[in-house]
Amino acid sequence: RIRGVRAAAAAAAAGRGHAPEPAAPAGAAALSPQEALKREAAEAAVERHVRSGMVVGLGTGSTARHMVACIGRKLAAGALRDVTGVPTSESTAAQARGLQSPLASLATHARLDVCIDGADAVDARLNLVKGGGGALLREKMVARCAAKFVVITDASKTCDALGPSFALPVEVTPFCWEHTMRQIGQMDSLRGAEAAPRLRKKEAGGDDKYTTDNGNYIVD
Ligand code: A5P
Repeated sequence: RIRGVRAAAAAAAAGRGHAPEPAAPAGAAALSPQEALKREAAEAAVERHVRSGMVVGLGTGSTARHMVACIGRKLAAGALRDVTGVPTSESTAAQARGLQSPLASLATHARLDVCIDGADAVDARLNLVKGGGGALLREKMVARCAAKFVVITDASKTCDALGPSFALPVEVTPFCWEHTMRQIGQMDSLRGAEAAPRLRKKEAGGDDKYTTDNGNYIVD
């Protein structure tokens, strides 16, 4: 949950008057209706919030991929220039390395103009659950350094209250993770909850623990 940030729900605004985006590359696979909505929201966010010369936090996940691709197309077309990206995960960094623009980190660019990212659940007050893709720590660190945090989601992410629709991910250090997971389960705020915290695995039903880019585990 991210408090106190003004999150702009670009999904709600998608399609309302933003300039047309350059077409996807020829031969690109047709998008499912949900992917098309993600792309539309991502393009609306880039159109409204990214300008030449900005330092931009690049979120993680399937929706954020559309945003990174959109920035890439605009850079290639000359509609944007000198955009410095601060990726929130190794996977986003790998995608963004193909952009005609430099990548940076908080080590050198700790003041971002905007950070654009997806979310797993969004309530009516714009509180969020993030971390379904396992990038929550870097995502939150980068978002905190941005003057503006823009969240791009489709309608499937909205809910009346956080909790039931998506398990809350918590990144924990491998050192005594069992102890940490027990402590999470004993938090006052979880008293009476039916669901018990569980360690995320690489594959559902598998034994291998999921490991984040930071070498940590995730408890959902
Ligand atoms: C990554 O750790 C997450 O916070 C993502 O932003 C979130 O899971 C949304 O991902 P999708 O856009 O793939 O739904």
